[in-house]
Amino acid sequence: MKPESDAPWRLDATPFLFRERARRWCLFLGGLLLVAGGLSCGTVTRTVIAPVSIPGATYVGSETCSECHDRVYRDFKTATHSRLMAKGPNAVNIGCESCHGPGSMHVESGGERRTKTNYGPGRPRYSSGSQRQTIINPRRSSENCYGCHLDKRGQFELPYHHPVPETRMSCGDCHDPHKGLALKGGGANLLSENAICLKCHPAQGGLHVFEHEAVREGCVTCHNPHGSVNDKLLTARNQTLCLKCHFQQPVGGRLLIGGSDHTLRVSQGTCWSVGCHEAVHGSQVSSSLRF
Ligand code: HEC
Ligand code: HEC
Ligand code: HEC
Ligand code: HEC
Ligand code: HEC
Ligand code: HEC
Ligand code: HEC
Repeated sequence: MKPESDAPWRLDATPFLFRERARRWCLFLGGLLLVAGGLSCGTVTRTVIAPVSIPGATYVGSETCSECHDRVYRDFKTATHSRLMAKGPNAVNIGCESCHGPGSMHVESGGERRTKTNYGPGRPRYSSGSQRQTIINPRRSSENCYGCHLDKRGQFELPYHHPVPETRMSCGDCHDPHKGLALKGGGANLLSENAICLKCHPAQGGLHVFEHEAVREGCVTCHNPHGSVNDKLLTARNQTLCLKCHFQQPVGGRLLIGGSDHTLRVSQGTCWSVGCHEAVHGSQVSSSLRF
């Protein structure tokens, strides 16, 4: 038995030489799916499922897109996803069509977003009113992202989530698929990562007389940006959220937090409710972030 037959497959274990061409990558992926039912991208262990198909369309390769989307194509060289390659001679680039679906109908129509009714010989015929997308815009559907980031679908199904499934928001509001780091503002420093959030939630930023240093550590220390079982997307529903940084010290039967006696307080509710530290993001008036 060949070692490659162990699912999930690793690209670097495959005997083919793949570079750049999305078409070949996708054909390959499709073939593998039949054989193995799964595939891991590059050195990661994620299982990749088939990109969402567009009825009647086939893969044409990223270079074809460059004819009309020159800027996106050029910038894409700097994008996280373009650097996602398997190691070694079997390197494969993730092309435009891994997120946008097979592009032949879109290209042949000269860039139409939707199929025309009765669209050319050999093409599927659609009656009026049943036009189809010729190309997928992930702003309206995250299905292709979930194909490789299956765990994210689960997170967005949790009771509290950013309204991406409701299409009021898109992965693209926080992630840049075409240029630079996939996480907008990410990498360099956490304050710029926070800037993504503050664009839509300005109230939690800004200058506070009494800052809470935790916010400098990043919004994601307390919030899961995708979804959570806890209200307000919190990473923990109770004191645990705060106690990972503020230690409890049991001293002579009393419980000290931040040097102050919390023995009777901790049973009254969460740290940020019941009038204690309601200004978790920072306060203009209270050094103990009371309000
Ligand atoms: C990692 C997934 C991914 C890859 C790979 C990708 N895109 Fe996109 N693309 C997106 C997302 C997400 C959006 C929607 C952005 C938004 O929400 O505004 C988008 C939108 C677009 C749009 C619509 C106009 C716009 O800029 O919003 C065009 C055109 C486009 N992509 C072309 C391309 C081309 C050409 C390539 C290859 C060079 C490519 N994309 C590769 C995810 C991707
Ligand atoms: C012949 C020129 C041409 C080629 C080749 C082309 N596009 Fe487009 N594309 C367009 C035009 C024009 C639009 C704008 C359509 C509109 O806004 O109605 C567009 C729009 C898009 C959109 C946004 C669609 C939407 O519903 O918002 C995406 C995504 C996209 N193209 C991706 C691609 C990808 C991926 C490729 C390569 C497989 C590609 N395009 C090749 C001309 C082209
Ligand atoms: C063909 C598979 C594939 C598709 C489709 C895909 N990704 Fe990815 N993406 C990956 C892999 C592989 C990685 C890198 C390994 C990892 O850390 O998960 C990655 C990494 C990322 C990262 C983390 C980057 C970092 O710096 O850590 C983000 C954010 C991301 N993808 C968002 C998206 C979004 C949004 C879409 C849809 C528009 C999408 N991806 C579509 C395969 C894919
Ligand atoms: C509200 C902003 C926001 C939205 C919307 C969003 N993300 Fe993210 N995402 C983030 C942030 C912030 C991080 C970094 C998390 C961290 O540093 O712990 C991240 C990290 C990631 C990562 C890499 C780390 C990981 O958790 O695996 C992937 C992959 C990813 N997001 C995919 C997606 C996909 C796919 C979508 C849409 C279905 C999406 N994200 C929508 C903000 C967002
Ligand atoms: C493009 C705008 C946008 C961006 C960027 C954004 N959010 Fe949101 N956020 C929303 C919307 C819309 C809601 C849902 C509000 C609603 O349902 O009424 C929301 C809800 C929330 C909630 C729950 C609020 C509540 O009252 O229940 C939290 C917490 C939150 N976002 C944190 C973040 C964090 C942290 C980031 C950065 C990683 C971020 N957001 C980035 C638009 C955004
Ligand atoms: C130390 C933990 C912590 C950090 C860091 C943090 N938050 Fe929060 N956030 C909370 C808690 C706790 C709540 C719930 C407050 C409540 O229910 O009254 C909350 C609530 C929210 C809400 C809902 C509206 C509100 O104020 O109640 C938004 C929006 C929000 N946070 C955004 C952000 C953004 C954006 C950042 C980064 C700039 C951030 N948070 C950083 C703990 C934190
Ligand atoms: C990522 C780590 C981190 C988390 C999580 C965190 N804090 Fe903090 N907090 C700090 C740091 C650092 C300081 C400033 C140094 C200090 O006073 O201990 C601080 C200061 C404070 C202060 C001011 C203390 C004073 O009197 O000066 C209060 C009150 C506080 N935090 C409450 C909370 C609450 C409530 C939570 C949970 C919602 C929380 N913190 C979560 C790191 C954190």
